Amino acid sequence: MKISFINKQIKDIESDLEIILLKNHKYLKVNDLFIKDTKFYVKIANFKHYTLTKTFTNTIQYISKINKYKSIKITLYGISDKKLQALIDGLILGIYNFTKYQSEVKNLKLQDVFIANEDYKNTQLSYEKIKMKIENLIIINTNINLVRDMINSVAQDTTPIKISNWIKEEVKNTDIECIIKDNSYIKKELPAFYDISKGSINKPRLVHLKYNENKGYKKIVLIGKGVTFDTGGISLKPSAYMYDMRLDKAGAVTIFGIIKSIHDLKLPIEVHAMLGFSENMISNNAYKPGDVIKTRNGKSIEIMNTDAEGRILLADLFEYSQDKIKQIDYIFDYATLTGSVSGAIGQYSAGLIGHNTQLKNKMIKASNKVDEWYVNLPFNRYFFEDSYKSAIADFTNIPTSSIGGGTIMGGVFINNFLKNKYKNKWLHIDIACVAFIKNSWKYHEFGATGFGVKSSINLIRRLTKTGLIKKDGI
Ligand code: BES
Ligand code: ZN
Ligand code: ZN
Repeated sequence: MKISFINKQIKDIESDLEIILLKNHKYLKVNDLFIKDTKFYVKIANFKHYTLTKTFTNTIQYISKINKYKSIKITLYGISDKKLQALIDGLILGIYNFTKYQSEVKNLKLQDVFIANEDYKNTQLSYEKIKMKIENLIIINTNINLVRDMINSVAQDTTPIKISNWIKEEVKNTDIECIIKDNSYIKKELPAFYDISKGSINKPRLVHLKYNENKGYKKIVLIGKGVTFDTGGISLKPSAYMYDMRLDKAGAVTIFGIIKSIHDLKLPIEVHAMLGFSENMISNNAYKPGDVIKTRNGKSIEIMNTDAEGRILLADLFEYSQDKIKQIDYIFDYATLTGSVSGAIGQYSAGLIGHNTQLKNKMIKASNKVDEWYVNLPFNRYFFEDSYKSAIADFTNIPTSSIGGGTIMGGVFINNFLKNKYKNKWLHIDIACVAFIKNSWKYHEFGATGFGVKSSINLIRRLTKTGLIKKDGI
């Protein structure tokens, strides 16, 4: 399905069907939709952002269900900037369907959605400007659907090697550089990452994606947990909590979506994305409770629970990234780190942790503007010493002497691997609650949401606008 913004009035565009939103109509009930000849009437309660998003989602889903029309057209209905997003999100995220594993998939007849250049609220904006806004939204949403596809794909199809190759393929003809490091490199350079991966015959991979290196822009490092399946290891998960653990690669896949969008939008910032792919399996070679393992920089961790593997992977990725990349301006990590985040904040938001209140607030503001939600979780780095006490090693991998606050404690653990100079430049985002859902809401059906791409892009856009353009001041 292709969305095009046409510099014509709606009456001058040829298509099979015209979408008409009706607000005040005596006989129709809200959300009623019906088709008469070439007109598709949709009764809408109001023109608020959320209602518009839902309406466009329902409309496009209805049209794809009927599967009869090749092209549709719509005007801008007096909407403006944020509501333009409602239209494009509703159309692209709303029509997403994960059909990879179905034997009979109908071909979508709908090929073209034409948006007429008519009735835009901000009449000052030229056709070119609105077109650019629409194209940018299309880029981001298309990448979100790719992220959804990757997360939804099952573990046997997204082993560390397979998902790394898929990502390599996606960036093949772009300006993103893709370096993939194999098992023996990981063993030498990221020993803790290696240890948590030992139990699987599907060997780990480290994917380092780079964009705009050495061009004088400020630098952001994105770090992602990519556990392609999390059985819990020897500390095995109960079945009911295990079957959907293909979602545990969401952090790494999300940051792939972010760097790809930054590239496609040509944002002026240097980005490094560090994706750690590993399968947490149970086998006679798996790491065990009671083992003591060492991180890249020699810190020893006593394993109390092999299911807390993500933080160990992140520990090594943090140390590695800070060693290899100089003078970092921002570090964001995305991870499905703790099951307890859902209990704390529900399924619609991500948990946000960091030292820098201003930066956190910026993220919260930037995300709200694009319809994503972050909850600020309080953070105290001194919780670490009291909680992660080990009798034999430097520390443990789960709290031994405190209870509760699992998500905060996860953040407190990985903070330990961050150099002091980067404390204020870091955001930790726990997406265990929101990355993958079982109840549909808004434009999300069962499965991966693709959460995080939109908000990070908006934040990075804002950061690049406010002085963060070129180091030399251009
Ligand atoms: N991958 C899980 C977290 C998770 C749970 C993500 C549910 C998505 C949905 C993670 O590796 C894990 O198991 N964490 C443990 C940590 C605990 C042992 C301290 C958890 O949350 O129970
Ligand atoms: Zn786990
Ligand atoms: Zn995990």
